[in-house]
Amino acid sequence: MPAITATAPGKIILFGEHAVVYGQPAIAVPVNQVRARAVISARPDQPRGWIHLQAPDIGLENNWGNLPRDHPLIVIIKGVLNAAGIDQPPALTVRVTSTIPIAAGLGSGAAVSVAIIRALSEFLGRPFSDNEISQLAFEVEKLHHGTPSGIDNTVITYEKPIYFIKDSIEKPGKKEVFPVSKPFTIVIGDTGTPSPTAAVVRDVREAWQRDRITFESLFESTGGIVNQARAAIETGDNTALGPLMNENQDILENISVSSGKLAQLIQSARQAGALGAKLSGAGRGGNMIALATREPAGEIANALSTAGATSTIITTVNG
Ligand code: PMV
Repeated sequence: MPAITATAPGKIILFGEHAVVYGQPAIAVPVNQVRARAVISARPDQPRGWIHLQAPDIGLENNWGNLPRDHPLIVIIKGVLNAAGIDQPPALTVRVTSTIPIAAGLGSGAAVSVAIIRALSEFLGRPFSDNEISQLAFEVEKLHHGTPSGIDNTVITYEKPIYFIKDSIEKPGKKEVFPVSKPFTIVIGDTGTPSPTAAVVRDVREAWQRDRITFESLFESTGGIVNQARAAIETGDNTALGPLMNENQDILENISVSSGKLAQLIQSARQAGALGAKLSGAGRGGNMIALATREPAGEIANALSTAGATSTIITTVNG
């Protein structure tokens, strides 16, 4: 049997992170320049039920029986076997590689899940629908993040710009794929500081519990920004996105999820001519994004590198 390969992109949240956990809409887009890749190969020399895992990026190579049951890769594979109703699969090797930086707000965990689920379900002869893939990846996200909104698994499964509203903790949420009237360019800059999403989301929850009135109002304002951004993208009024990004960043600073390094990169992107800039994802570290319509994106990327970004990606958002 030939090896089965599937890949999944990274993602950025353009508008609405954190507020989305509290029921407000958010907009996310795939980032195709970075991807996770899963290759499933048959091992006819081994008995049924034998599974070997290779994840060279994290230095992992082992038989699955030797790994803890709650290891994220085991949870993903078990989830696929359960959903496919297969107890003892034919012997196989799962190899995962990824160019998506870890804990950087680019969706690396969800992309690894989606790539494995897609490849393994196909290998088993039961290819899952996008809906099933997203739902299963959401279950794994809960292990990483505790209370994820479901936006990462959704945008990474469907690989299209999405407007997303969280559902319950049982379901991955409601997505609308919407038209991008005119493509626009985003420059992504990495602070190089890993920032585990779960910790930041927990801090925001504690702050919200202490002062619900202020936080609800900040989240509602974020929802307003997201709706204006969607309208601007749909009508091709891309320059309007810049000020909206800046407004969203002000709110993210107010809820204490920015950082000195993020602020420095955001400032340097704006000085280099970006129409707007903000953090993307959980914040505290990870990545920031800048809208590059007026200036060549390369100049903004250079300015970000000079200001200390450890890597930059230039990506175009289109329908
Ligand atoms: O850091 P990321 O890319 O996983 O994004 C987290 C986005 C949050 O809104 C902060 C959390 C969530 O589950 O939506």
